[in-house]
Amino acid sequence: TPQTRTGRITNFVDTRVGGSAMVKEFGRKIFPDHWSFMFGEVALYTFVILLISGTFLTFFFDPTMTHVVYNGSYNPLKGIGMSAAYSSTLDISFDVRGGLFMRQVHHWSAILFVAAVAVHMLRVFFTGAFRKPRELNWVVGGTLLILAMAAGFTGYSLPDDLLSGNGLRIIDGVVKSIPIVGSYISFFLFGGEFPGNAVIGRLYALHIMIVPALILLMIGMHLFMVIVHKHTQYPGPGRTNDNVVGFPVGPVYAAKAGGFFFIVFGIVAAISGLLTINPVWNYGPYDPSPVSAGTQPDWYIGFVDGALRLMPGTLGNFSLEWNIPFPWGVNTLSMNVLFPALVPAGIMFTLMFAWPWVESWITKDKREHHLLDRPRNAPFRTGVGVAGVISYCVMWAAASSDLVATHFEVSLNDVLYWTRALFIIGPILGFIVARRIALALQRKDREIVLHGRETGIIEMSPEGSFSERHADLDVYKLHNLVNYEDRQVIPAQPNATGYITRSEKSRGALSKFFFEDRVAPVTPSELAALHAEHGSGPAEIEGSST
Ligand code: HEM
Ligand code: HEM
Repeated sequence: TPQTRTGRITNFVDTRVGGSAMVKEFGRKIFPDHWSFMFGEVALYTFVILLISGTFLTFFFDPTMTHVVYNGSYNPLKGIGMSAAYSSTLDISFDVRGGLFMRQVHHWSAILFVAAVAVHMLRVFFTGAFRKPRELNWVVGGTLLILAMAAGFTGYSLPDDLLSGNGLRIIDGVVKSIPIVGSYISFFLFGGEFPGNAVIGRLYALHIMIVPALILLMIGMHLFMVIVHKHTQYPGPGRTNDNVVGFPVGPVYAAKAGGFFFIVFGIVAAISGLLTINPVWNYGPYDPSPVSAGTQPDWYIGFVDGALRLMPGTLGNFSLEWNIPFPWGVNTLSMNVLFPALVPAGIMFTLMFAWPWVESWITKDKREHHLLDRPRNAPFRTGVGVAGVISYCVMWAAASSDLVATHFEVSLNDVLYWTRALFIIGPILGFIVARRIALALQRKDREIVLHGRETGIIEMSPEGSFSERHADLDVYKLHNLVNYEDRQVIPAQPNATGYITRSEKSRGALSKFFFEDRVAPVTPSELAALHAEHGSGPAEIEGSST
């Protein structure tokens, strides 16, 4: 048959790169649909927006600390000495056409990017999507979270205004508090005594090349693994651990995802066109002497600042700063900087990375899981997640201790004491409350499954008593409420020599704690018994193997 010119060109390309085979392979991938799967997509799309807007900014931004005298069109700063980095950021804001808009697109999408990554992670955590076989993808994701924060921090340090300089000052403090080598590392990093004249250029290399390249690489691995493992799905009729129910990538999912990208881009553009972010011209150039009250870091870095503020300078009469004499001189070891800067974040990230293994060690559950948990059906995990979120939020809130004090006219010290107390009590209370709520919701579900849903129709019996009519649930609802995976306490077990090790003992106890009340979700066998008794309704769906 005669081919059109386009047909011939397409054929030429296809026979050389094998495009149609790839489309056949990937285009038929099935993706389940659920609103909570959109957060990962938002993360991906905001990253693309960051790449595009960031590239625009590189055309005009000057990443050097050369001293210049500002002579742009923003009058209040005219004639003032500053770095070329700050001056060029002002130029982008006032003298480059569309520059302010692009700066704000870049900054707003950065804020949304980290937020989407964080919420996406919470979705994965609370639904148990990190379980086998996705543990490694969880770790890749965690690395992405750290990289996202690093990208943000290196980014907003670039303009070299008062705010970004104060952020770097804190990093300088943390670095200097490292025993013995601290001051040398600081000297090396800043190219001399802080603030030096090298740090902006170095951050620039990290910000526009190394960190984005690492993120790109990690996202590639991340999505590759999503394809290899296939996506998880929520329980539903016909959905099992061995299948995926959803739309094929081509054309349905691709069209939806492509459209969603433009929606995200449109929203970011609208926000950036309307709302000011990081008005660096208000802060002035960096100068180590003034510290402005009320300026805040981007939200995702706040918790580090908060952790520094939470840490007491002394414990009672016990100083947390020591001058340690070494043969070559005296070194200061300052625990009230080093400890809060590294320990809370260290603990949080270690626990985060290790969680898939911690959980499967406790539960001894080594099966593959492709069906997601509803958070209420895993009360222990949900409690742990809530505790983690609370300790993070307390650190974050502590970063605004000065604003809370001035705004509500209370003592700054009181705000600090309260946040310190909350840091200890909050996560514990959060764990207990979240776990109790989850268990209560399970009981409610159980009630609904076993007795049908309330219809709102009140009936009067011939004897004159009133009752509400209950109706059978539809299969979709039922599938959500019944627990099809049997999970149970596995008590501590003796090893080959018949001895129960101490770690096995604690595992057994944790397993009990993990599952204790989890007998609450209705099981298929209970449902079948109910069916046999009443001969109707719910039990028709028989497990999820249909
Ligand atoms: C500045 C974040 C990727 C180029 C910034 C700023 C933030 C940020 C918060 C400060 C903006 C301001 O208010 O002035 C991020 C994040 C990224 C990312 C989270 C990726 C995950 C990129 C990429 C490029 C880039 C890939 C270049 C190809 C720049 C430039 C500046 C900047 C040139 C300085 C200009 C300015 O501050 O106005 N970035 N960025 N960024 N970013 Fe990025
Ligand atoms: C799945 C993107 C960070 C863990 C996904 C999906 C996308 C995505 C598009 C499939 C759709 C969905 O389930 O939402 C990204 C991007 C990230 C990022 C662009 C950051 C730049 C993270 C983080 C974690 C994580 C921080 C956890 C620590 C996972 C896991 C899956 C997944 C385990 C598989 C979930 C499933 O099959 O249900 N990611 N993600 N990701 N992500 Fe991420």
